[in-house]
Amino acid sequence: MKGIRITGQIPLDGEVRIQGSKNAALPVMAAALLNRGTTVLKGCPRISDVFLMEKILRGLGAGTRWQGDSLEICADQISSCEVERELGEKMRSSIVLLGSLLGRCREAVLPFPGGCVIGARPIDLHLSALKTLGAEFAEKDGRLYGRTSQMKGGTVFFRKSSVGATENAVLAAVCGEGTTVIRGCSKEPEVGWLCCFLNQAGARISGIGTSCLVIRGVPRLHDTVFSIPSDRITAGTYVCASAITRGKGILVKPPVKEMKAMLTAYEKIGGQYVYNSGKLFLCSQKASRPIHWLETQIYPGFPTDLQSIFLAVLACAQGNSQIKESIFEDRFKVVPQLQKMGAQIEVEEQIARIRGGKLRGTRVKAEELRGGAALVIAGLGAEGETYVENREFVERGYEDICRDLNCLGARVRKD
Ligand code: UD1
Repeated sequence: MKGIRITGQIPLDGEVRIQGSKNAALPVMAAALLNRGTTVLKGCPRISDVFLMEKILRGLGAGTRWQGDSLEICADQISSCEVERELGEKMRSSIVLLGSLLGRCREAVLPFPGGCVIGARPIDLHLSALKTLGAEFAEKDGRLYGRTSQMKGGTVFFRKSSVGATENAVLAAVCGEGTTVIRGCSKEPEVGWLCCFLNQAGARISGIGTSCLVIRGVPRLHDTVFSIPSDRITAGTYVCASAITRGKGILVKPPVKEMKAMLTAYEKIGGQYVYNSGKLFLCSQKASRPIHWLETQIYPGFPTDLQSIFLAVLACAQGNSQIKESIFEDRFKVVPQLQKMGAQIEVEEQIARIRGGKLRGTRVKAEELRGGAALVIAGLGAEGETYVENREFVERGYEDICRDLNCLGARVRKD
């Protein structure tokens, strides 16, 4: 059994450097297919989802090489436009290969995407955007077949904000013919980072960070070296680690500008912080207050990816809190596991009502990435020892959560 063993209730006090962002790295890796040359991604997180995407790219004919934490992707020759079923099914974000393969090869074959089980997660917005830009789709044997004679400029309007669908539209349009306008697009930082990468490689995208992107198609991209920004969700996880142990902690190079909603919630529960010279100094001795109402929202709102982790913190607060999940319909999967640890949480539709109290260490099971991280954080706040089974879910997004938490002064080990 691959798990994580956590000794609870040790107030944190240490320093950790924040890894590169998973949700920035994956679409940028897909984007590297659009460059008929070499792309270097510095500070690429060494997590299993990135290794899986690397395997998929190799299956398509790209060459990859790691040098420390730099990943080099050489896509001068692409020999296949079909994503291997077994690999693509394992990861939801393989869907962004649709836009880049159509842009590069004018053809794409993908299995229907897998990934974390947190709701229905349809792909209708992806498909309708790509159809507007000149692609056609068919479905056969659980595979999605896409083709185009040439991606063409057009006006895409998203009635609902979607990170992946916006990324797919951008990827399909950058090397297409003419100008594309995307309205109602996602303003998540990871979309902006993808656009910055593409512009650095020769694309012409304006409106970055707004809900309207304008893309002027270019014939080709060129080689570039890009630094993957730090992961705001990992940084937020470690803020929660400090909070639940009522400790301290220093995060090195967190993307604070993109963490505002998270840090506001941290202050509301009594946490204090100072940001100075690239370091975030946390002081959580008084981080025990509940929050009357916290709602996940699209950026710049509170991120859904931190919802279950913050839920663990609130389960240890002194008083009653409520969290509403507004992005995904089935993202309270971790609640029964937290209940095993003594958490008093009731879920009704999209709202979790939490009565703060004591958690006790026991054996629990991770069932998805962020829920798994939430259990590790809960273990830090619990009395005694917690064992979290299925650490492979956590490793999809965290390079080495045990190493990082131990740097912060925790006692956590792989077991
Ligand atoms: C990305 C992130 C994920 C994060 C999520 C929301 C990556 C690799 N993953 O996922 O970590 O939790 O953003 O911030 O970057 N929807 C539709 N139709 C579609 C597409 C989406 O209805 O075609 C809905 C989804 O069911 C969901 C909402 O839109 O309710 C947002 O999903 P979306 O922004 O697309 O999330 P992902 O890109 O899958």
